[in-house]
Amino acid sequence: MVLLADARTNGFCVHPLVHQFSLLQCADRIIIPQGEAHKNMDSCMLIWQQLTELQADRNTVLVNVGGGMVCDLGGFAASVYKRGISFIHIPTTLLAMCDAGIGGKTGIDFQGYKNHLGTFNDAEALYIDPNFLDTLDFRTRKSGIAEMIKHDLLQGGDIWNQTYPAEEQDFYTLQKIRQSMAFKQMIVAQDPRDEHIRQCLNFGHSIGHAIESYALQTEYPLLHGEAIIYGMYYELLLSRNILGLEDSILQQFDDVRRKLFPELQATFTLSQLTPFLLQDKKNNRGLRMSLLKGVGQCEVGVMVSPESLQNLFS
Ligand code: GLY
Repeated sequence: MVLLADARTNGFCVHPLVHQFSLLQCADRIIIPQGEAHKNMDSCMLIWQQLTELQADRNTVLVNVGGGMVCDLGGFAASVYKRGISFIHIPTTLLAMCDAGIGGKTGIDFQGYKNHLGTFNDAEALYIDPNFLDTLDFRTRKSGIAEMIKHDLLQGGDIWNQTYPAEEQDFYTLQKIRQSMAFKQMIVAQDPRDEHIRQCLNFGHSIGHAIESYALQTEYPLLHGEAIIYGMYYELLLSRNILGLEDSILQQFDDVRRKLFPELQATFTLSQLTPFLLQDKKNNRGLRMSLLKGVGQCEVGVMVSPESLQNLFS
């Protein structure tokens, strides 16, 4: 067994895990630098080099301890080492617990393209401990809520009505994390290769990714979840304009956004986002998005005309 962590999770999370699981006590460790910028081929080379030095064989299990970056990268490195070794995810952020850790997508960024190289390969197991959320800085912890709100909007019905209005702490309970994970698992089980219904999970991400990429170049970079909050807001506006989503849903979302993320008050222009919207690899057949007709009613592959986008940002 080999444990993969980044510098941060090695400092904060590995010790309690090793204390809890005797199997991990004798596991070798590979430590990679922290941060999304390291989700790349250099980190993969480092992992493969160390696995080779450790004489890891096809029976070796890689245990990925960290956020989405460690899970994606570790899953990818494991998927190709000796044609694939097993891996376990121990996600330590809300985002990784409810999203990146589930569904078998592994990958790294390449030449400026996000998740350009990757595989579909499921983790053997997932271990969730909400106590790890206490090791996160305030901003990182809260940003993970974005994907949970997305799951609730997509699931709709009682889940949406019962959860909102919500307090930030409500999202950090094992019960809420489990419920959000179960929704994603249910979607992935129907479409593991992301060919149809799974694309509903892209809701908020077409514009959200563009905002995230744009903000990265400015003095105020946004965390993924923060960009997705903006992305969902703009895509709900599009959903209203194109699919007739009720105004009251938009209002409800905006109330949630203002309550949980009052600091996210930026506005964007179309010219800031256009280069990134066009770069999205999913948009090679014109701009298509996953939008909502109602809470719990997502339509994937909705064509978004340049005029609709223009109206959104004017
Ligand atoms: N994060 C979206 C998906 O796993 O499909």
